[in-house]
Amino acid sequence: MNRDDFPILETGIIYFDNGATTMKPKCVVDKVVEYYTEYTSNAHRGDYDTSLRVDKEYESVRTKVKNLINAARDEEIVFTKGTTESLNTIVFGYMQKILKKNDEVLISKSEHASNVLPWMILKEKIGIEVKYVDLDENYAVTVENVKRAITDKTKVISLAHVTNVIGDIRDIVEIGKIAKENNILFVVDAAQSIGHVKIDVQKANIDFLGFSAHKMLGPTGIGVLYGKYELLNETDTLEYGGGMNAFFESDCSYELKEVPWKFEAGTQNIAGVIGMGRAIDYILKIGLDKIHEHELELKKYAVSELKKVPNIKIYNENTDSGIIAFNIDKVFSQDTAIFLNRFNICVRSGNHCAKILKDEIGITNTCRASFYVYNTKEEVDKLIEALKRQDEVYDNIV
Ligand SMILES: Cc1ncc(COP(=O)(O)O)c(C=O)c1O
Repeated sequence: MNRDDFPILETGIIYFDNGATTMKPKCVVDKVVEYYTEYTSNAHRGDYDTSLRVDKEYESVRTKVKNLINAARDEEIVFTKGTTESLNTIVFGYMQKILKKNDEVLISKSEHASNVLPWMILKEKIGIEVKYVDLDENYAVTVENVKRAITDKTKVISLAHVTNVIGDIRDIVEIGKIAKENNILFVVDAAQSIGHVKIDVQKANIDFLGFSAHKMLGPTGIGVLYGKYELLNETDTLEYGGGMNAFFESDCSYELKEVPWKFEAGTQNIAGVIGMGRAIDYILKIGLDKIHEHELELKKYAVSELKKVPNIKIYNENTDSGIIAFNIDKVFSQDTAIFLNRFNICVRSGNHCAKILKDEIGITNTCRASFYVYNTKEEVDKLIEALKRQDEVYDNIV
């Protein structure tokens, strides 16, 4: 699917590390280069043509993001460095103000560090309780288990839409409904789902959400914090400086700009924002349903082929995204990844920043192959061929 749009693939690389970051289509790179070569200027600061063009392009991306996730208004979209900054802003800009000692925040043991550590730090700061939803036999979060984990102290449910090792897709519409019925705030980490499956923040009653552009064919260093307008208004920015203030005086009086601009202190990643806009156009042109279908087909194919290879353990064969976590029996995952690199195959190895998942799956490190639009069955065949040569894993490794 659309391989010609990705010049890097001409090098022969077999890139199965899309959970970490994705390749960039030429149109995204061109759009970024266009900004740098044709109209470089700062945003929201100039009165000349190139600057006005920047403002128009930059703000138009807010609308594109709003439409992508079906937010109610442009002002609910804040540009951040990525998911990590978005989640930190939610936790320390809002939750720290409204949560109290012993309030419970519900997460799961398969969350990424950026949806775990901020909560742990908040526990340390103000004494909230961090609780974990039980995972089912496929290491997935079910609606039933979420219901069961809720107590009268639960104030927040914060979950990834799709997890980055197990790849289970959480039923965010149902979970959002339960959260609303119980007067619980619902935070969604969309790092692994944006650009892979549809997200409708209004339908799922999501209060806050974060994602990164680099995981959906866009540039690095740019992402989004979504928040319901009234909640963003109550959220403190974590940074102060130029561009985000309405005025400040020598007597220390000041006023910040309105949402979302109060969150965008200093010169922003303008090229990143513009590139992210182009990535959104590109993804929507293919269609999210088609992308998801393609990834699932690749996953099913890969799982059935992997099962024919001796000594392979798959940890998540029953989840519905394009992520496969596996190991060769008795081989350290990093050794497998280094071995696969000999065949120009890129997989991720390690704990994938999901460091407490080991409590559930009983192992710290796995290899992860994660698929995206440009991957093919032929590439999966090459992975299988390489894994069949597993006896050679330790040749050439010093
Ligand atoms: C589920 C999940 N959440 C959050 C993140 C953090 O994203 P970023 O490093 O772009 O901030 C990742 C990155 O791998 C992820 O997979």
